[in-house]
Amino acid sequence: MPENSPDIVLRDLTIGYGGLAVVSGLNVRLPGGKISVVLGGSGCGKSTLLKHILRLHRPISGDILLGGHDMFSLQGKALHCLKQRIGVLFQDGALLGSLTLGENVALPLREHTRLRDRAVREIVRAKLGLVGLAEFASYYPNELSGGMRKRAGLARAMVMDPDILFCDEPTSGLDPINAAELDQLLLELSRRFSMTMVVVSHDLASMRVIADYVVVLGDGRSLFQGSVEELEKTEDAYLRRFLDRMAQERDEPRLTMPRLDPSMMKIDCSQHLAGTKAVD
Ligand SMILES: Nc1ncnc2c1ncn2[C@@H]1O[C@H](COP(=O)(O)OP(=O)(O)OP(=O)(O)O)[C@@H](O)[C@H]1O
Ligand SMILES: [Mg+2]
Repeated sequence: MPENSPDIVLRDLTIGYGGLAVVSGLNVRLPGGKISVVLGGSGCGKSTLLKHILRLHRPISGDILLGGHDMFSLQGKALHCLKQRIGVLFQDGALLGSLTLGENVALPLREHTRLRDRAVREIVRAKLGLVGLAEFASYYPNELSGGMRKRAGLARAMVMDPDILFCDEPTSGLDPINAAELDQLLLELSRRFSMTMVVVSHDLASMRVIADYVVVLGDGRSLFQGSVEELEKTEDAYLRRFLDRMAQERDEPRLTMPRLDPSMMKIDCSQHLAGTKAVD
């Protein structure tokens, strides 16, 4: 792949599991060097799409081209070379629990480069610094909050300076300030290194800040492809509900069952609490 900002092309793509389609008939060109955001409700197939682009599952039909290369026809060293140009932040961070953060972030460098220990340590420190975790290199994943694990996952995804970065829900579990900072970091990475980024998200605020291109999945297909400006103008009822965060109107109320009957409790709490002194 000569260029370092490859387009990602999905051609007549149908993906799913065990022959059952989750998303069908995708024809999309995710532009090289830009940030594409894949939006859609929970369970619509966003992570499924990422896993197929990453070659973790074989499509039911159609092609996935990265910089013009068909991921499924590459083999051996050519495939290895392409893979080492890809960084991935999985939805759950996917850190190895038995390794410290520093060791987790160093993993791709140890696997793919001949860098000496000292150089590896410096790069790891710099990348952890980018996500605000410079002080936490010696911590184990279970000693960190969910948001910190997510940021550490991003540091690992970036450690090889990839040309293509995939992020599955990078801002979920982050507070608004950290989420906004992470958005800025993604923007900076995209602009400075012309990385091709694909970000899967439900976070509309984040989409509005980072997206150059948007794909909305739903109903087993692509519902929209285009710019944020075009999406904001849509008159499609489902897309409008999604954008305006509106619940579906219902004819029937959902809460039809009575509340649990207190007399069915094994211990009658009202009596027991009544007998104890409340603190002022
Ligand atoms: N390994 C698997 N085997 C079979 N079905 C799967 C597998 N992984 C996901 N699915 C199914 O594929 C569908 C899409 O799941 P996916 O994880 O892609 O959704 P998503 O859009 O990423 O949702 P969320 O926003 O909640 O992360 C779901 O119906 C799910 O049950
Ligand atoms: Mg998902």
